Amino acid sequence: MRRTQVGIVGAGPAGLLLSHLLHLDGIDSVVIESRSRQEIEATIRAGVLEQGTVDLLAQTGVGERMKREGFRHQGIHLRFGGRSHRIDFPSLTGGRAIMVYAQHEVIKDLVAARLAAGGQILFEVKDAAVYDLDSASPKIRFHHGGGLQELECDFIAGCDGFHGITRPSMPSRVRREFSRVYPFGWFGILVEAPPSTDELIYAHHERGFALVSTRSPQIQRLYLQCEPDDEVKNWPDSRIWEELHVRLQTAEGWKLAEGRIFQKGIIAMRSFVVEPMRYGRLFLAGDAAHIVPPTGAKGLNLAAADVRVLSRALAAFYSGNEEPLKTYSETALRRIWRAEHFSWWMTSMLHRFHDESAFHHRLQLAELDYVVTSRAKAQTLAESYVGSPL
Ligand code: FAD
Ligand code: DHB
Repeated sequence: MRRTQVGIVGAGPAGLLLSHLLHLDGIDSVVIESRSRQEIEATIRAGVLEQGTVDLLAQTGVGERMKREGFRHQGIHLRFGGRSHRIDFPSLTGGRAIMVYAQHEVIKDLVAARLAAGGQILFEVKDAAVYDLDSASPKIRFHHGGGLQELECDFIAGCDGFHGITRPSMPSRVRREFSRVYPFGWFGILVEAPPSTDELIYAHHERGFALVSTRSPQIQRLYLQCEPDDEVKNWPDSRIWEELHVRLQTAEGWKLAEGRIFQKGIIAMRSFVVEPMRYGRLFLAGDAAHIVPPTGAKGLNLAAADVRVLSRALAAFYSGNEEPLKTYSETALRRIWRAEHFSWWMTSMLHRFHDESAFHHRLQLAELDYVVTSRAKAQTLAESYVGSPL
């Protein structure tokens, strides 16, 4: 039987960053992951890093490529009624901003750092299950390299995402789940084209929401609101461009650069939180414990915030102070619920709802108008978007 201090299920941003932070505190961990290294390094997901996430990656030695290849953005554009309005982050938040750097690039940097430091990541494990969670030595059992293995741990971190096995391993009587499913999805594409904008555009339009983001000077990331049960085959390139042009048009004749679409996918929109995020010696972090709709760009950042709190708490435990571990769930949930509220608010303000009345539509426009004309309201958006320090 193998032994480690912290057994981590899942090599997403939460699991890998936790393993990295624990290593810097001299704490040993083993990460087990059901997919291959190639797969996790190629999965296209989020793109916006909060200032606190950027600072954490840079301060812990995994920010070199991000600083070179990421794009620091000082604001976003809110577009509605055919006009664009800029929200300037530094002037509203005391100098804070965001970085556009793809999640799979963060994953590559973290995997490389862990392996270079002799860290253990076991890829392509099968049938992982967690046991003895309320004992002093919880265990993870899994198949790897053809054999059944058991990993005995002091603690287990459930970083295995929304569909993972750790959250359902908590007895149902101890967990309370809160959720909301939205009546739409996001259709996301990657395009070979030059940028059409210097900063992200979040567009409200009566045909539905649209978002213009970027990945590099040659590759752009765009999203548009679609049906919740939509399928990629319903969206030939011509329909995608038509919708994007209509939803993003401005009175001044803004131009969207087209190009070859080389990736298409649909993202479900939900809000979800489980309380508490701990059972015995199992601690949940990231999407295993909560989901936000992507409109506020919080998913990856919340995962980073959780593991910052958890790694500090575990370091305190090994130095003889158990208190931060006892309050992990409570501490993490304060930030999580604020991000849940922000993501719900941005989603509600910017999307078209099927059952929406003309009255509701006018209310959305009134709120957007308030955001772009009131410093207090703009500051509320900016503060939440750039996030508080980790
Ligand atoms: P994950 O990234 O889900 O990582 C969990 C890992 O655990 C995975 O590698 C998985 O393979 C592994 N795993 C699962 N089950 C097991 C098991 N039984 N055994 C071993 N390993 C297991 N957020 C945004 O803010 N903006 C976006 O545009 C955006 N787009 C997204 C698009 C998609 C398709 C998805 C699914 C999410 C998106 N998100 C977005 C959310 C963001 O990507 C997540 O919040 C973030 O990945 C959370 O990191 P995590 O480490 O908690 O979970
Ligand atoms: C991106 C994703 C988001 O969810 C968002 O709000 C902004 C940008 C992106 O993938 O670039």
